[in-house]
Amino acid sequence: MSAALQHHAPEPAHFREAMGSFAAGVTVVTVCHEGRLVGTTVSAFSSVSMDPPLVMVCLKRDSRTLEALSQAKMFCVNILASDQGDLAYRFAKSGADDRFALTAVEAGVCGAPLLAGATAVVECELHAAHDGGDHEILVGRVLRVLTDETKTPLVYVRGGFLNV
Ligand SMILES: Cc1cc2nc3c(=O)[nH]c(=O)nc-3n(C[C@H](O)[C@H](O)[C@H](O)COP(=O)(O)O)c2cc1C
Repeated sequence: MSAALQHHAPEPAHFREAMGSFAAGVTVVTVCHEGRLVGTTVSAFSSVSMDPPLVMVCLKRDSRTLEALSQAKMFCVNILASDQGDLAYRFAKSGADDRFALTAVEAGVCGAPLLAGATAVVECELHAAHDGGDHEILVGRVLRVLTDETKTPLVYVRGGFLNV
C-alpha cells in the first residue's frame, strides 16, 4: 500500500473526502406525478444488470423527487452533458419549484420528462426499492434508452465539475 494513504475512521468529513475522489457522471432524475414535473440532480447512479436491463439511483429519504417517484413508479435518468453544469446546480437547489423553467422537455415513453441537451437518457419503471440508510436505493427496469454520442458527459469529482 502507498505510504501516502492515511487511515481514518469513516466519520462524515473523511467519508465524503474518500467518496469525492470517485469521479462520477451527473444525472437529473425526472418524474411526472399527477401532471406535475419533478426532478433532481443525482450522481449516485449505476447500471446493475444487463439481463434484465436494470439501473439504480440513490435518493435522500427527504427528497421530494423520491416521494413523487415512489408514487409514479416511472422515471427518467437524464445523463448530463459537459455544458449542463448550471442545469445540474439548478436541479439541486433546495426547495426550488422552477427547476424546469429554462429547459426544453418532452415526455418519454414512461411519461417522465426528457431534458433537451442530455448526452443520454434511460427511461425506467420502478422494479424494486431497498433500504440504503439515509437514502433509498431505487432499482429501475429499463424500458428505452436514448443516446447522443456527439455530447461529452459531465463529470463530478471532489465537489466540482471537471473541465473538459
Ligand atoms: C452534483 C450533485 C450530485 C448530487 N447527487 C445526489 C444523489 O445522488 N442523491 C441525492 O439524493 N441527492 C443528490 N444531490 C443533492 C440533491 O440534488 C438536492 O438535495 C436536491 O435539493 C433534492 O431535491 P428534491 O428534494 O426536490 O428531490 C446532488 C447534488 C449535486 C449538486
